[in-house]
Amino acid sequence: MSTAAPEPKANMGQPIPRYDAVAKVTGKAQYGADVALVNPVYAYLVTSSIAKGRIDSFDLADAKTVRGVVDIVTHENAEKLKEAKLFSNGGYTSSTIQPLKSADIAQDGEIVAVVLAETFEAARQAAYAVKVNYTAAVPTTTFGSPGTTSAPAKGQLAQFKEDPKVGDFAKAFESAEVKITAEYGTPAQHHNPMELFATSCVWNGDSLTIYEPSQYVHGLKNGVAEQLGIDADRVRVINSYVGGAFGSKGSMTPRTAIIASIARRLGRPVKLVATRDQGFTIATFRAETRHQVKLGATRDGKLTSLRHEGWEISSRADPYAVGGTKTTTRMYECPNIDSLVSIVRADRNTPGFMRAPPEVPYMFALESAMDELAYELKMDPIELRRVNDTMKEPIKGNTYTSRSLMACFDEGAKVFGWSQRKAEPKSMTDGDWLVGYGCATSCYPTQMAPAAARVRLQRDGHVKVQIAGHEIGNGAYTVIGLVAAERLGVPIDKVSVFIGDSDLPPAPVAGGSNSTASTCSTVIMVCEQIRQKLFKATMPDETLIDKAKETVGVGQTPVTRAAKGDRQIDYERAFDALGVSVIEEYGEWKPDGAPMDAFRAMNKGQMRMVGGPEMKDKIAYAFGAEFVEVRINRWTHEITVPRLLGAFAAGRIMNPTTARSQLMGGLIWGMSSALHEATELDERYARYVNDNLADYLLPVNADVPSVEVIMLTEQDDHINPAGVKGIGELGNVGTNAAVCNAIFHATGQRLRKLPIRLEQLD
Ligand code: MOS
Repeated sequence: MSTAAPEPKANMGQPIPRYDAVAKVTGKAQYGADVALVNPVYAYLVTSSIAKGRIDSFDLADAKTVRGVVDIVTHENAEKLKEAKLFSNGGYTSSTIQPLKSADIAQDGEIVAVVLAETFEAARQAAYAVKVNYTAAVPTTTFGSPGTTSAPAKGQLAQFKEDPKVGDFAKAFESAEVKITAEYGTPAQHHNPMELFATSCVWNGDSLTIYEPSQYVHGLKNGVAEQLGIDADRVRVINSYVGGAFGSKGSMTPRTAIIASIARRLGRPVKLVATRDQGFTIATFRAETRHQVKLGATRDGKLTSLRHEGWEISSRADPYAVGGTKTTTRMYECPNIDSLVSIVRADRNTPGFMRAPPEVPYMFALESAMDELAYELKMDPIELRRVNDTMKEPIKGNTYTSRSLMACFDEGAKVFGWSQRKAEPKSMTDGDWLVGYGCATSCYPTQMAPAAARVRLQRDGHVKVQIAGHEIGNGAYTVIGLVAAERLGVPIDKVSVFIGDSDLPPAPVAGGSNSTASTCSTVIMVCEQIRQKLFKATMPDETLIDKAKETVGVGQTPVTRAAKGDRQIDYERAFDALGVSVIEEYGEWKPDGAPMDAFRAMNKGQMRMVGGPEMKDKIAYAFGAEFVEVRINRWTHEITVPRLLGAFAAGRIMNPTTARSQLMGGLIWGMSSALHEATELDERYARYVNDNLADYLLPVNADVPSVEVIMLTEQDDHINPAGVKGIGELGNVGTNAAVCNAIFHATGQRLRKLPIRLEQLD
């Protein structure tokens, strides 16, 4: 794997190392649970060992004898918190299963008691000594278990707006020259971020400070305030760094308000670090899905009909669904389309967002089916995509703001050596190894949300940027710093970036790959306010001001060279003219098409995401093409992936160095979702079996000897001022299908249910 910084191409920023690299490698970066508290109490959770039923009684006698125990909180003595609404139904929480409320148990691993003690060890020991007597009922676990109920997502879930349809699918499929009907399945997965689900709650009078890894500090602040029944201005959430999240820390989990209420009652700070296995049930997960895809085409590969039906597992309490048909029905030109998404309820914890939530499972189904169709047609899979490539999405007829899918395929194919592939399955071998090449389309909707920022420029050129963005490993500090440096014409080392604090101007959730597009567009706008002040101070001539305005645009001349000719704006002179030593500007930005209440919602920590397929008159996606080589041992069926390659076009690439890492991580995780990862369920008890990092399979370096990322130049002036499409999730999409397609090429065996393990090969 090459480690050199990538060469920036047109419409790419400087390839610089992480702003936070030194803090991270020297241990200076402070994560939520690292914050030293004064006289803290340590909390340890007791979680239910049944998935359905009720608590008959607790036996706390042994637990109370543990030295250092301060309190044990159960539903019998817990403060009754206010109801919380589901994040995807307009509220803040990841789950409306509210623990410690009653004796009823709605899921495995539900919090049933919180043990408080003077040390972590004492809390843990006492928690182990808590005895809970249950009456268990028989739970329903997943697809096929008796007792599940299935109903269309539309109508149950506010966020799920449509089952896209166009033309007459049934008629067109009936008369299609070539047809594919296939069923696919993806497993449950858990995010397993390195940083555990911790929270520390500190009261100072009637003000609460929460140190917790979160992808959305403004959402968490407002959600906790609502549950505690206090003013949101009394709550502050701080997390300068988040040790991974992948969607699991996007919405408020029930733990936070519980710990905050206990801290209030005890009058002492309380620190909770939930264990790895508890993280499987006190937060969300990627639910298992099932799909049926029908494709009809002409002999020369033109799609004439497409139907995608999806089923997703959710909890009894909450109608959560990712609904990826909004994407899969819009990928290719096709006149007759039908789709339906249903939610299947079981006795589980509520699932939630996990990296590219809709696209990972739904594009797996579509891109596998496209590959099946290509073999049926005896057509190269890339050519099949080319024949059906389109600049207009077929549902509403909106035009893509830009779409470089085939450029990605062509560049990727060239570097990968796709032309060496023999079309026939099982036709490439190397000694005892069957060799297979596979590819698939990758895509992710470009999404944006309102944000605010404050930028301060000092006379000596130092810049301070404040925005409540989130460093979840995504390189947020770096790109925000870069864009301010670029706009104000100062070196990056003069810029200080402040994020991860809900007292800063609000920014949206660091999710849906919207973070860079939203925060950088906002910072660009506020820097522009400063630039205009500087221009006015040094160029009283109106025509010059207009000229300066014209230079505003992504990747164009920075302010120091923005004036007429090559004249530099002298900060000293500008500050003298203005008679100040500091210029500080605050601004609020919202994307085109944001609803009227966008800024009000922003301040309340409610998402008003705009973009992707749901815009009025256009459609915005980033695209990529992913290529995989597999080698399968003829005798042992061992599956190896010697090469992964992705070629991507995602508008402006702010920092090629951090972008490459993001995309590389996505490719690796996508491969893992095909071959490694699955949360195993015990269907008798609706419980997770492999809830630890030893049994939950993850790829290691030896599993990914070569990962290559190609970033294509793409300029899109129609999406947002930053010109950014977002890459947080793009790399992760389509890889699972590319792996399966390569396995088919190597073996002639089509596997439609993930993850693929060697015992599935004949
Ligand atoms: Mo992501 S799953 O939108 O954090």
